[in-house]
Amino acid sequence: MPDAAIAELSLEPYWMPFTANRAFKRAPRLVVAARDMHYTAADGRPILDGTAGLWCVNAGHGRAPIVAAIAEQAARLDYATAFQMGNPQTFRLAAEVAALAPGDLDHVFFVNSGSEAVDTALKIALAYFQARGEPSRARFVGRLRGYHGVGFGGISVGGIEPIRKAFAAQLLPHVDHLPHTHDLAHNAFTRGQPAWGAHLADDLERLVGQRGAGTIAAVIVEPVAGSTGVLPPPQGYLERLRAICDRHGILLIFDEVITGFGRLGAAFAAERFGIVPDLMTVAKGITNGAVPMGAVLARRGIYDTIVGSVPSGVELFHGYTYSGHPLAAAAGLATLKLYRDEGLFARAASLEPYWEDAVHSLRTVPRVMDLRSLGLMAGIELESRPGTPGARGFEAFVECFNRGLLIRVTGDTIAVSPPLILERGHIDQIFGTLAEVLKGVA
Ligand SMILES: Cc1ncc(COP(=O)(O)O)c(C=O)c1O
Repeated sequence: MPDAAIAELSLEPYWMPFTANRAFKRAPRLVVAARDMHYTAADGRPILDGTAGLWCVNAGHGRAPIVAAIAEQAARLDYATAFQMGNPQTFRLAAEVAALAPGDLDHVFFVNSGSEAVDTALKIALAYFQARGEPSRARFVGRLRGYHGVGFGGISVGGIEPIRKAFAAQLLPHVDHLPHTHDLAHNAFTRGQPAWGAHLADDLERLVGQRGAGTIAAVIVEPVAGSTGVLPPPQGYLERLRAICDRHGILLIFDEVITGFGRLGAAFAAERFGIVPDLMTVAKGITNGAVPMGAVLARRGIYDTIVGSVPSGVELFHGYTYSGHPLAAAAGLATLKLYRDEGLFARAASLEPYWEDAVHSLRTVPRVMDLRSLGLMAGIELESRPGTPGARGFEAFVECFNRGLLIRVTGDTIAVSPPLILERGHIDQIFGTLAEVLKGVA
């Protein structure tokens, strides 16, 4: 896009999400194109995508088979409702996603985002216990520092204070939170999963004691918390959660919106950790970010119970105009094929040791308080400036962008999660740039 056309852009009408609108509009950062590992900034500079878009472009940008599939689908069948109708692409994608998922997570409810997936999963949990004749099981348990999108369900079970506080007047009423697992005193600079912290899952037993098992429908956690700074689960923690849920008949929901589709070197975190949840939420990488889509995967017994609970007619009063959208389904099918054809999940696994070494090379950089990584994701926690939390992180973000690298920051924690097609040279560039920038943000 020529500079003149950019200069004429009116920035005011667009109310940007999760953005400091006034500051952005004073000093905008615009990208105009993307291919493979790079964006092109409005001034023509390449920007290395250190965040796979927003944890979603796992196969890299502008991939020809996905572009072609979307174009072909748009020309053939642009839209069809998913209510009492169907199209073949969406059924094909459901079958492929189910085949990729572990255990009997073999039914797929399509939505359009991670937030919708989370709220849908919570509704399915309620519907399941209604169908079983256990309507008193209606409480949810989330976890502090969890991010589950921005729907009312998601912010209620989520555990990010500023997001909850802004809407605290109307959150879901019956929700408890487990403690988070982040503890620098025990776990700073751990490589992979920390050894300390499995016992924190036992807090669920405390909640069962306090509330009564018969009141709790589901526990929802991210297997690796992403948005609050990449927190790999302590060794044995998820196993314990699974065991406690089993003991008390509570559903376990894994929110795999970030960890799904190869980020951890396996199709899902559930596969990497060898734990099958009862419901799983996905989005982002399901279409390589090219068309919005999310989904809830349900174990067979959950689907059978809900669908079998009414003699005839609609079984679950839920769905969206764009559930199972043909363009998203076509993009999803092309994406999964690309993941398979290029062996991208295995590629992520094989790059993990090199990635981890590169992450930990930042250990000697001043003001780095912790480094965490698992699969191809990493969190770099910086010391906050007294009185201005988040300022150092944001400065690092802007400076990286100016030097041709896109990172993500939450407060003073940096997250990096590149497309899985990256080469070792890109890893060197990411951590080389970060080392330079972090030395500068005094
Ligand atoms: C774990 C998790 N759940 C849910 C969401 C919400 O997804 P979306 O932004 O597509 O609504 C996100 C987004 O990053 C996420 O990381």
